[in-house]
Amino acid sequence: MHKLIIKGGSPLKGKIKIGGAKNAALAILSATVMAGDVVLLENIPDINDVKVMIKLIESVGAEVEWQGEDAVRITPPDAIAEMPPYHLSKQLRASNLMMGPLLTRFGKAEIPLPGGCNIGVRPMDLHFKGFAGLGAEISLDKGCVRAHCRKLRGARIYLDFPSVGATENLMMAACLAQGQTVLENVAKEPEIVDLASFLNCLGAKVRGAGTDVIKVAGVRSLGGCLRYPVIPDRIEAGTFMVAAAATKGDIQLENIIPLHLEPFRAKLREAGVDIIEGEDCLRVKVSGSLKAIDIKTLPYPGFPTDMQSQMMALLSTVSGTSLITENIFENRFQVVDELKRMGAKIKVEGRIAIIEGSEGLYGTQVKATDLRAGAALVVAGLMARGTTEITNTNYILRGYHEIEKKLRQLGADITMVKNGAS
Ligand code: EPZ
Repeated sequence: MHKLIIKGGSPLKGKIKIGGAKNAALAILSATVMAGDVVLLENIPDINDVKVMIKLIESVGAEVEWQGEDAVRITPPDAIAEMPPYHLSKQLRASNLMMGPLLTRFGKAEIPLPGGCNIGVRPMDLHFKGFAGLGAEISLDKGCVRAHCRKLRGARIYLDFPSVGATENLMMAACLAQGQTVLENVAKEPEIVDLASFLNCLGAKVRGAGTDVIKVAGVRSLGGCLRYPVIPDRIEAGTFMVAAAATKGDIQLENIIPLHLEPFRAKLREAGVDIIEGEDCLRVKVSGSLKAIDIKTLPYPGFPTDMQSQMMALLSTVSGTSLITENIFENRFQVVDELKRMGAKIKVEGRIAIIEGSEGLYGTQVKATDLRAGAALVVAGLMARGTTEITNTNYILRGYHEIEKKLRQLGADITMVKNGAS
């Protein structure tokens, strides 16, 4: 195990290249098992969740080869011998995205019911209701969910909640179904749009991604795609933006899509952060003092829940009272206890966190409880007086490639050491 050691107080300065989007890469990698020929993906982040997803698609027969730093060549399976094994599926909630591709391409899918995780119960009822609507038989047995159907049939499906995963699973399943599928009240995140454009590169007929209604005309089979670059990671970008604001720094982010950052760029501007936009870059700096703001997490294009913990860390040292309402997950305030150990003054009442900005945080030992909580503690450590040690860094490495190297490039005093080392 490793821990991060951060000596706070250095303003971040310089340029940083943002990597490919984790949540687009995971969905697109799972979709490759539907392809009929070789696929080459680019801008794939070399992070632990991607490594697990690659093992998952290999477990059903795909051949995968990294080419250089961030390209992956995949030869999809012609048939499947095995279903994804439990020891892999349980490591990654997004293993549930294998269901749609396996069911629609091979007529069956079986994955362990992904357990809840630190941020919530995370049921899959909307996924199963959609698969059943497409004609699949769904059964639960010994903690595994099984779906089978010789040939899915297009249908009209309304999602009770615009679930990202359910939208992705059902959009993939509909690609090889018989006839037309209409998905209503779907998620509109940029990662949904990226998955749809990848599926269309394979020869699928997906229309409307990014709006409330997605229409899919089923096709008999899909081909390959010899070059597909995945979109940049808007949450990695947002995390660095918050870190720059927290340390009163001045950084330039490269390889981003500014539109995807709009929801939290607007909130950072409201707090007093200067953001100057370029073609595919953004400059973030702080000239004056920041002010308290209120945030409500919502499905895209609302404020993203994946940026909530990082903003909480920033606002914990902004004078005044800030409110954060978490509307997406029922248990995504776990970072509060760790921030309070660093001197933050935060009270949680149900889905609302009340943050009294304190004059500053002090470094101490803290532990990451989930991916974005870990990122929030990095932000807190960068601005705290003294030294912060963060354990359970495996959570952070799930979603951030070489975060300590990138921060060191920007002037942070941060190192990753083996836990137990002095
Ligand atoms: C995706 O998770 C992301 N993960 C999450 O990012 C992100 O926080 C989330 O979308 C919301 O934007 C990936 O893309 C791999 P949901 P997902 O289905 O698909 C409820 C990160 O840090 N729900 O939109 O699991 C659910 O319980 C991760 O990168 C049902 O009730 O999210 C939750 O309260 C964390 N029934 C809400 O919807 C269902 O069948 C949103 O979940 C499905 C979901």
